Amino acid sequence: MEISVIGAGYVGLTTAACLAEIGHHVFCADNDTQKLDQLQNGQMPFYEPHLEGIVDRNREAKRLEFGPTEEGVDRGRALFICVGTPPLEKGEADLSAIERVARVIAHRGHGYRLVIEKSTVPVQTGRQLKRHLALFRTKELEYDVVSNPEFLREGAGVEDFFHPDRVVVGVETPRALEQMREIYRPVLERTFACPVHSECSRQDAARPVPFLVTDIASAELVKHASNSFLAMKISFINLVADLCEAAGADINRVAEGIGLDRRIGSSFLRPGIGFGGFCFPKDLQAFVRIAEKLGCDFSLLKEVERINLRRLDHFVEKVKKELWVLRGKEIGVWGLAFKPNTDDVRFAPALAIIRHLLAEGAEIQAYDPRAVDNARREIPEVTYCSDPYEAARGTEAVLLLTEWDEFRDVDWERLRALMERPLIIDGRNVLSRDVLATYGFQYVGIGHDAEVPENELAGARGDGSGKV
Ligand code: UDX
Repeated sequence: MEISVIGAGYVGLTTAACLAEIGHHVFCADNDTQKLDQLQNGQMPFYEPHLEGIVDRNREAKRLEFGPTEEGVDRGRALFICVGTPPLEKGEADLSAIERVARVIAHRGHGYRLVIEKSTVPVQTGRQLKRHLALFRTKELEYDVVSNPEFLREGAGVEDFFHPDRVVVGVETPRALEQMREIYRPVLERTFACPVHSECSRQDAARPVPFLVTDIASAELVKHASNSFLAMKISFINLVADLCEAAGADINRVAEGIGLDRRIGSSFLRPGIGFGGFCFPKDLQAFVRIAEKLGCDFSLLKEVERINLRRLDHFVEKVKKELWVLRGKEIGVWGLAFKPNTDDVRFAPALAIIRHLLAEGAEIQAYDPRAVDNARREIPEVTYCSDPYEAARGTEAVLLLTEWDEFRDVDWERLRALMERPLIIDGRNVLSRDVLATYGFQYVGIGHDAEVPENELAGARGDGSGKV
């Protein structure tokens, strides 16, 4: 099927490349000519595991092409709208890019078009989209509108495309339903060569992919509600983490105990410095706004947002408690991206914490395996380093703010010799206090009793000499 994907951002490019990988001919369109040049010349606008290989392979096989939106509308029979819906000032989703695409489809579209909403949008956007197409369409245009929310996670986007928990389609006609089933058939029937796993797990191979068919509004709500529920789970466990600190309990054990209940599940119960990224914060706000507009009180989700914002202050308080005066203190930071396996720093808690520490006069040396360039554009006054040791050199503490795997596997002895004080403050609870103690480190984590007896603090100087 001739497919066009409008918008070559994170969702659009991943979707376009993966649809080409399962055999469709895909035209990926964007009105950012610089990005199009990059993509046509084999450069990737962002880092995402496995994606570059898929883009290269399918571009070379001419199954994936790039060009302007107008050409995309002319050439595609199925049109995936994957443009950005950033937050407006009060948190509503900005739908202007969607409207622009709808206008191009209405004016240029001829014959039949399957118009597929894939951007994350508030409920009733599909209704607006249909109305807009009806208002501005040429006589020759016939169309169906579909909602097909995406659930891709950054850092695991390709894997999530090929191994989805479900595919959701909101449709109004059997014709639209059949085409959506056709588009996803290789994923639903697992007739694809997986670009992520040399051999997909038997369990996964055996599990049929749910193909959930609903009306358009319900499909739109599935996305906002799913993200808001996951965000709520994170804020809940962060609340319990605070209680563990006050009660002398251990959040890691508590989360384990909660997660063993199959009705709850262990995923998204990792406490830390809060959720970030371009999805949860904005989707939560947009969901609250649309609910209020429709007369529903979603104060529960406002609380989820408040708890999340408080994580930043809570963490900075932890740093202050250990370092006392921050002014002039050298602090090392490990991790800048909002989560591992991505170079994305949008709404990253790490950057918010760095800004807070800089405002208190601290000096920051930071390292991240992928996100330094993006972080430097946001906060140029930080010293960016090329490895975790350089970031720790001469510092009074290292803050772990993004749980990249490489931070679990550090040469602790070498690190201790580099630091002014062997103190690790772990904002993601991925390191072990006991292991670090064997290397003479003081460890402060989230959600467990952080108090270190005075006598254990003696001789905390980095080089183990104990000399002040
Ligand atoms: C999210 C949804 O997971 C995905 O389905 C949707 O399509 C887009 O939004 P993403 O934003 O890429 O994906 O990241 P995700 O892995 O969900 O993490 C979001 C944030 O929550 C990150 O900042 C992460 O560090 C944080 N998080 C996640 C926690 O603090 N604790 C957890 O247990 C899980």
